[in-house]
Formats: sequence, C-alpha cells, structure tokens
Amino acid sequence: MSQSHLVAALQNALGSDRVLTSIEAMAGYLVDWTGNFRGDALAVVRPSTTAEVSALMRVCSENGVCVTAQGGNTGLVGGSVPLDGLLLSTVYLCTFEDFDPNSGQVTVGSGVTLAQLHAFAVGHDLEFGVDLAARDSATIGGMTATNAGGIHVIAQGMMRKQVVGVEAVLPSGEVISTLRGLAKDNTGYDLTQLLCGSEGTLAVITKVRVQLHRPVATQLLVFGVDSISAALDTAAGFIGNISAAEVIDRASVECVHRVTGISVPFDSAFHLLLEVRGDLDFEALAQHEDLIVALDATDREKLWALRERVTESCAVEQVGVSHKLDVSFPQNILGDAYTQLCDLLDRDGVTQVVIFGHLLDGNFHIFFTTPAADQEIEREVLELVARLGGSISAEHGIGRMKAAYLHLSRGESEISMMKSLKSAIDPQGIMNPGVLFI
Ligand code: FAD
Ligand code: LAC
Ligand code: ZN
Repeated sequence: MSQSHLVAALQNALGSDRVLTSIEAMAGYLVDWTGNFRGDALAVVRPSTTAEVSALMRVCSENGVCVTAQGGNTGLVGGSVPLDGLLLSTVYLCTFEDFDPNSGQVTVGSGVTLAQLHAFAVGHDLEFGVDLAARDSATIGGMTATNAGGIHVIAQGMMRKQVVGVEAVLPSGEVISTLRGLAKDNTGYDLTQLLCGSEGTLAVITKVRVQLHRPVATQLLVFGVDSISAALDTAAGFIGNISAAEVIDRASVECVHRVTGISVPFDSAFHLLLEVRGDLDFEALAQHEDLIVALDATDREKLWALRERVTESCAVEQVGVSHKLDVSFPQNILGDAYTQLCDLLDRDGVTQVVIFGHLLDGNFHIFFTTPAADQEIEREVLELVARLGGSISAEHGIGRMKAAYLHLSRGESEISMMKSLKSAIDPQGIMNPGVLFI
C-alpha cells in the first residue's frame, strides 16, 4: 500500500481529526522529554477505543508498518519517539470503568494520567501506590510499559505490583485481556506481568486494572547528613515504617535553589527526605542536629519540591547535551558507588553533575552534561555500575538510549530468551524497533 493509501486507510478507521500528518501538528510527538531523541513518523494516530487500536494494528501488520506507542512522553530513555512508521498516542484512551469499592480495583484507559488516577483514588478515600514528579503527564499505560518506580517503592513496590490486569492489542490486531483482576490465577504464563516493563515492544496496552489502597497517614522528616552511609544509618532507625526515602546531593539542591528560589535547609553534603508512618519518637529525634519535621501540608509540599524539582531544574540550567542515567546498586555498596561515580565524572568537559534518588531502593539518578553528544562517557559510567554489581536501569527502562548496553546487566541466555519472546509475539518486528534491543 502506498503511503497516501495507508494514511487514507487510517483516516477511514479513525476519522481524519484523529490522524495528524503535518510537520507542525506532529512536532511535539516526535521529540522526547530530554530533547536528546528526535524521530519521524508517517502519521500520529490518536484512537479512542480498543477496537480502533485493533483496526490500526491490523492495517500496520498487513503493511509491515512499525508502531511506537506514546503516553505522556515523559520517558527519559528515548523509547516513546519513533524512527519512522506510526506514532500511536494514547491521549484519548482515558476511561475509568468497573470500580469495585470492596476490592479497591479500577480499570483505567492507558492514556489516563497518574494525576487523574490519584484524584480518582482520593475521591473514593483510597490512594494509588506509585507517585512520581511527572504525574501530570505520565500515563498509566506508559508507567505500566516502563514498570515505573517513583518515591513509594520501598512501601508499595513498583508499577507491576499495582497492576492486576491489562488489556492489550497484539501486533496482529488481536486483543488479549486479563482485566478480571483475579487475585489468584495460576493458569500458565503471566501475560499481565510480561507486559509490565515491555516498553511498547510487544503490544499496545489499552487498559490497565489497578489496585488502590487505604491511605496511611505519614509525616515528612528532612535530615541534613554528611554521607550516603549516614543517610542509610538514619533511615535504618525507621525501617518498617518508611513510605519514602529520598536522598539529594549538594549539587542537586543548589541547582533547585538557583532555578526555583526554594531555600535549602542545611549546609550538609546530602539532604535525606523520609516519609514515615506511625508516631514519632521525639526523644530519639532530638539527637539529630539537622532535622526539620514538616508541620502541615504546605510545609510538606515545599520540602518535597526540593526533591521533586531536581530533574526540571537541571533541564532549565542545561548547557550542552544532558545525560540522564538511572542505576541501582546493592545497598551495602551505595556509599562507595557514589564516591566512585563522582571520581569518574570529575573530568574536563563534564559539568552539572548531580546525583540523587531513591535511597532505600539503592537507586541513584546520575545527571550530567557534556559540550556535545558523548556516548563514551555514558558507557564508562554504565560499565562501572555493572562492575559493582548494579543494574544499568533501575526504573526508567532501556529505551533507545541503553539498547547497546543491555548485555552489561543481562546474560546472553537471558537476552536470547527475551528476543525469542519478542519474535514469537511480534514476528515482523513492528513494535517499537530500536527499543530494548539493537
Ligand atoms: P512515554 O514516555 O510516552 O513512553 C514510555 C515508554 O512506554 C515508551 O517505550 C513507549 O513506547 C511505551 N508506552 C507508552 N504507552 C504505552 C502503551 N499504552 N502501550 C505500550 N507501550 C507504551 N520514572 C520513574 O520510574 N520514576 C520516577 O520517579 C520518575 N520521575 C520522573 C520525573 C520527571 C520530571 C520526568 C520527566 C520523568 C520521570 N520518570 C520517572 C520517567 C517517566 O515519567 C516514566 O518512565 C513514565 O512511566 C513514562 O510514562 P509516559 O506515559 O510518559 O510514557
Ligand atoms: C526521579 C526521576 C528522575 O526520581 O526518576 O525524579
Ligand atoms: Zn526516580
């Protein structure tokens, strides 16, 4: 089918207002959040039902056209931007269905944003277990496809732990569904979990059934500490009661302060934010010199902003090309890993080095800039991470950015098994080519 016939077939399936083809209309969809990944597409299609997604996928598989699904386009590894083919935006897949107040489960369209799901949960005196700073744009489909982490993993687990079912359209156009949300179901391979973290390489997720929870009251404590090991020791005093444990280094808080004007509480090398459940032991807390306890919701929001606005502040100050790495280590080597990372990045041409992240997940985000694109230095960092026994992607995924480095974290047999699964489900290789595997 010629390109113009293909576009006509898509318009026929969706209506012409849901198919964008002009450079101007498509521009925002073809560059990622970091600005490092730019792509091209025949068209941007915006279906509003599963049946439409299925019809689109049939047209694409019959014509060997590649498809990249895109949710909020907040991914940080270049996975949401196509090289060519079709960009399938989930923006209109935004339904809420089948809420069950007894089980706390609800089915949402994959284009529902995290903020919308939080609002829904709060409206029913419940909460959703995952939270992250990109909540106004990041979608439940994208978060499922990347198995997003965020600030509550220590208490609630990653996205896959909240997902009790999915509906997805396979490259052939067939629809699979596990939306019944069965608590127990040992009938063979777990297809729901296979799609969590699949980064759009297997299927288009159209609906997700998620588990909501009863909220538990917490208090926010902010400590100034001198080292990563002091941060870990401080957190250890609250173990079992922690719902968030975030660490921010000096360079990170200073960047946030310069960009936003938010004041930095302490002169210390690190700030540790701990969200804890239960009553506070003020006698024990009195031994900490540098400590603030958030007094109310406004105070809490202000203190959280110091952590949440790091990524955005780095982007504002960015001169040159940004590198946003996301790695994890065994907790017992975290302090040493921090020092080795700083030593490695202490070299001419590398600026704006900030390290922060999810302390008790052993997860550091390492951001830095170089005057021009420099994959060699990314390789060196990721090789160091692998040598230290860590993972080259803690929560953001592999995307296009780290496809060449997958072997640093996964064995040959594992990669070969992943590729076999991929080719069984997507024999033509039309789902997000270039992502996960090169
Ligand atoms: P997109 O960026 O649109 O897509 C991401 C990937 O998922 C792509 O490979 C895409 O093809 C695929 N995809 C999207 N929708 C579908 C679908 N319906 N079906 C199949 N595949 C699909 N991430 C964390 O894990 N933790 C954090 O704390 C965190 N904080 C962030 C803070 C900021 C300020 C920013 C900008 C990003 C942050 N991220 C974080 C990264 C990002 O928000 C997550 O990766 C998020 O899950 C992406 O969701 P999205 O809807 O924007 O997906
Ligand atoms: C965060 C993103 C970068 O934790 O994952 O802020
Ligand atoms: Zn993170």
